[in-house]
Amino acid sequence: MSEKPWGGRFESPTNEFVEAFNASIDVDARMYGEDIAGSRAHARMLHKQKILSDEDLKSILSGLDQVFNEIEDGDFTFKIALEDVHMNIESRLTALIGDAGKRLHTARSRNDQVATDTRLYLRGRTDTMVDHLRQLQSVLVVLAKQHAATIMPGFTHLQTAQPVTLGHHLLAYVEMFERDAERFLDARRRMNQSPLGSAALAGTTFPIDRHMTAAELGFDGPTRNSLDAVSDRDFIMELLAAASICAVHLSRLAEELILWMSAQFHFIDLPDAFCTGSSIMPQKKNPDMPELVRGKTGRIIGGLVAMLTTVKGLPLAYNKDMQEDKVAIFDAFDNLQGSLRVFADMLPGMKVNKQTLHAAASSGFATATDLADALVRAGVPFRDAHEIVGKSVAHCIKSNIELHQMDSASCEQIDPRLKSDMVAALSVEACVAARNHVGGTAPEQVIAQVVFWQQRLENSHA
Ligand code: ARG
Repeated sequence: MSEKPWGGRFESPTNEFVEAFNASIDVDARMYGEDIAGSRAHARMLHKQKILSDEDLKSILSGLDQVFNEIEDGDFTFKIALEDVHMNIESRLTALIGDAGKRLHTARSRNDQVATDTRLYLRGRTDTMVDHLRQLQSVLVVLAKQHAATIMPGFTHLQTAQPVTLGHHLLAYVEMFERDAERFLDARRRMNQSPLGSAALAGTTFPIDRHMTAAELGFDGPTRNSLDAVSDRDFIMELLAAASICAVHLSRLAEELILWMSAQFHFIDLPDAFCTGSSIMPQKKNPDMPELVRGKTGRIIGGLVAMLTTVKGLPLAYNKDMQEDKVAIFDAFDNLQGSLRVFADMLPGMKVNKQTLHAAASSGFATATDLADALVRAGVPFRDAHEIVGKSVAHCIKSNIELHQMDSASCEQIDPRLKSDMVAALSVEACVAARNHVGGTAPEQVIAQVVFWQQRLENSHA
């Protein structure tokens, strides 16, 4: 008799290469805990519904315990010939307890089983991902507090725009990671429904209690449509979308760290433990971790595109194509989680060159908007003010000075409405302090936001 649980109608064995090519055990073995939990719930339900005897339930539950322990202890051999985690576990259970093991699959299919296992597994992984996001947010909030008043140039088009505080800049990422956490939690809420009992596609002829298995597995309830339940991979697409957006946020931060660590910017230095050297250029210290994290973004987005493309042409219900889902989502989750962890570990060791940041903010005419605002306050229409300051900047570029260094003669010459006390009052400190409203870059606002985030993150841990 064939080793395969489905071997009955086959006359010749599976092609050897096909056997390996078809198997998903390398990918799905990690769901053994969820597979066993699902089997326990299913067996208890079958017993309560008088579909399984007392003795069968007893031996199934103790057999599943043994299989679980064997896997945990590394004493379990996953076989490619048994395709996937579901058949490997069932086959070992049957070897241990005999006929009772063969009864476990009553009123169940691998199609509802894999859908259930994957939701359970990803539910746990999603919670862990959110923990990692919270951790990184906490690290950024601590840094933002330290640098609430650290002045740096703010950029648009990567050209010096206006002075900002580093704390404000870092808190921008805390906002992004908050939305990421919310996206993960939102997807989690939608996926927390039990497909178990949908069986192959149409449900089952046995009097099952789907509410019982759903409750036992911590689902909010059973799915409403069996065809949808076994062919729905929306939850994987949603998680991959959330992961992709989060990876894009990390990648933007990574890009900034890489730029900032270059000799040309010289804004920061990253700890040695997170950098590497060059095998030929002795002077090199490369920001490998931000680079790698930036690079991982490509494969995570690739996972999303792969999943969308895989499902787009599939008729209902289950199709083998779907086995590829786990490859994409597991890879994306492993890499995103690793990226979040690396950043949370690395950032506390970041050295900030405050003087360079200050000097960079003080050059490049970052205070020009504030000079225009000063003219407006003196009654000059904004468009005229813009023109006057534009001419002032042109004058400074020619004379190789900064705006606040202009003398009264040149002010007068550019426009009589431009007063030397206006240019003298220009300072990057005044620029940031003046932006003191909700969402502004003033140190006072940064501190207020830090307090907001400290409380919010504390509550989300509770
Ligand atoms: N290993 C399969 C997967 O991951 C499990 C479901 C297989 N179902 C089937 N009818 N062949 O998709």
